[in-house]
This record gives sequence, C-alpha cells and structure tokens, in this order.
Amino acid sequence: MDIIERFMENPKRSKEEYVELIGRAEDRQAAQTLAQRALQIRRQHYGNKVYTRGLIEFTNYCKNNCYYCGIRCGNKKARRYRLTEEEILGCCQEGYRLGFRTFVLQGGEDPYFTDDRMVSLIRQIRTGYTDCAITLSIGEKPYESYRRFREAGADRYLLRHETANEIHYGRLHPPAMSLQNRKNCLNWLKELGYQTGAGFMVGSPGQKREHLAEDLVFLSELKPHMVGIGPFIPHHHTKFAHEKPGSVELTLFLLSAVRILLPKVLLPATTALGTLAFDGRIKGLMAGANVVMPNLSPVKNRKQYDLYDNKIATDQEAAEGKESLSRQVRQAGFCLADERGDFMF
Ligand code: 5AD
Repeated sequence: MDIIERFMENPKRSKEEYVELIGRAEDRQAAQTLAQRALQIRRQHYGNKVYTRGLIEFTNYCKNNCYYCGIRCGNKKARRYRLTEEEILGCCQEGYRLGFRTFVLQGGEDPYFTDDRMVSLIRQIRTGYTDCAITLSIGEKPYESYRRFREAGADRYLLRHETANEIHYGRLHPPAMSLQNRKNCLNWLKELGYQTGAGFMVGSPGQKREHLAEDLVFLSELKPHMVGIGPFIPHHHTKFAHEKPGSVELTLFLLSAVRILLPKVLLPATTALGTLAFDGRIKGLMAGANVVMPNLSPVKNRKQYDLYDNKIATDQEAAEGKESLSRQVRQAGFCLADERGDFMF
C-alpha cells in the first residue's frame, strides 16, 4: 500500500515511514489527498468554524539568543518595548469589543515580567473577562511559575519545541538552551491542566526530512492540544540572514498531516505562512488549520515585534481587520467564530 494510504489508515507510524511520507510533499496529488482528508476530519470535529485569538505581543525584550529570531538578546539593533499593564488591559478591552474571546499574551522571555507581575496581570484579565480564555506564550519557566499562572487563571500555553532533533536544536539555539528543558516544560504544562501547544518551524537552516519526521513522532507521543507550524523566514539581523525561507507547500502538507495525526488539534494558519504567501492563511485553512490569530497589539509597537523580515501585522492580520478577514474566510467556505474555542476533550 502507498504511504499516503497507510498514513491515512493509521497515522501513528515509525520515523522511517514519516520520512517517506514527507518525501511526497511535492507530489501535488498526494498533498491534495491529504488535504481532503484533513478537511474532512476538521469538519467532523469543528464544522466550518474558524476560531479567532487576539494576539497581544506585550514585550520584545528577551534573555534568550535563538539564532533565527529577530528579537534575540544579541540583536542590538532591535528597538525594544514593553507594554504597560494599562496598555495590555486596553488591548483586551478593544479585543473584546471586536469579538475576541481568547487573549494570547505573547512575549520574549523578559525578566521585567516577574511571576508576581504576571500573576497580577492574569488575575485582572481573569476577573474582567470571565467568558474569555487566557493563553500565555512567554517561554520556558520553572514548574512553580507555571503552577502560579494556572492558579491565577491562565487556561492555555503555547511553547513551540521548534525541532524535536537534539542536533538540529543545537544548531538553532545557543548552548545555554536545551531541547530537554523544552520537553520538560511541555510535560509540566500538560500536567498542570493547560491546553498546551507545541510546534515547529518548517525549513529552518539545516533541517532534513528526518528532523521533520522526528517532529511528527514527538507530536504523536506528546499529543498536544495545539500545534503551531510556520515556515522559517530569515531575519536580516541574524546569522541566518541569507538562508532560504521554508516552503509554503511543505508547511501546508505538514498542517494536513498533523490534522490527521491529531484529529481534534487546534491548528493555526500562522502569521509566518501569511507572510510568505499573500493567501497563505486561507491556504492553511484549506489544508486543515482551524485557528487564526490576528494582531491585537498597539499599532505603534507592531513593527517592533520583529521575529523575521516583512512580518505582516496589518489589514487582515490585524484585529481591526477582522471584518475583512471574516469575509475572506467565508468565501473559502468557513466561518469566523466569536467563541473561546476550547479544545474538544
Ligand atoms: N522565522 C519563522 N518563525 C520564527 N519564529 C521566531 N523566529 C522566526 C523566524 N525567523 C517563531 C518561533 C517562535 C515563534 C514565536 O516565532 O517558532 O516559537
């Protein structure tokens, strides 16, 4: 039997079989077959709903130095900012008015935002917006910090593993960071009852099919509730400035594969995908994604959250462009849902 058929029959496969599967990504027919199955599965669980998340990028200070990232601490050219508590709460207020029922607080690993400050912020949002979900995306923390944030009212946590291969991880990150710690964090988050998101970049420097196959094995074991997948895009102030960006087609293929592997997963059509292709986000939805995360940060700071070159943050990528996004999503046969959009346990 063909690997595509075998995978669709039972998506839990060996690394070797995933390598073979990924080898078919450029085969149009194979990609279409996977996408069709992925769409069918997402329809079974989520109908034609697309969940929205308001993304608040509240600080671009970061103590880490991930080699691919524009806001790594070693980039002295980055113009740094952090939002005040009032500004963050203002974003939530505006987001709520626009119909968002999930707020994603995303930032670099910024020591200014101590656990006490985070807890105070989470509590205020929790009290002010009882019908909203709070998602954190602020990197690696000790167990005790995750526990306190959860107790304060955080519901979900996004922490991409970036690559599940040790050697490849080491090529993308400085020695002070480790894949093992990332994995520990993801396990803690699940244990604490967060809806937990892992994820990886597609086409990051040095990435081989084998590495992506390991990402699929890792996801099949972790069974996260959310998976963020986006193409790598070079940033001019990193050592990967002259590397090629990841492939849109391969990203779409992997979105379909992950939908089939984890049928109920919350899967965003990412900003990176929308940045590389003008219709990337819609293509993502057509490949099996069911979440979009428009930018809710203050307009004055959007350009500064500069993870990679040409990152989009306006028009349909922006919270205030939700109406236009909604029309586009409807044209593609889906419907934006103003709901929390929790994982269906
Ligand atoms: N290209 C694509 N994605 C990137 N990220 C960081 N830098 C880049 C880049 N150059 C992604 C990482 C991180 C998320 C917030 O942004 O996967 O987890």
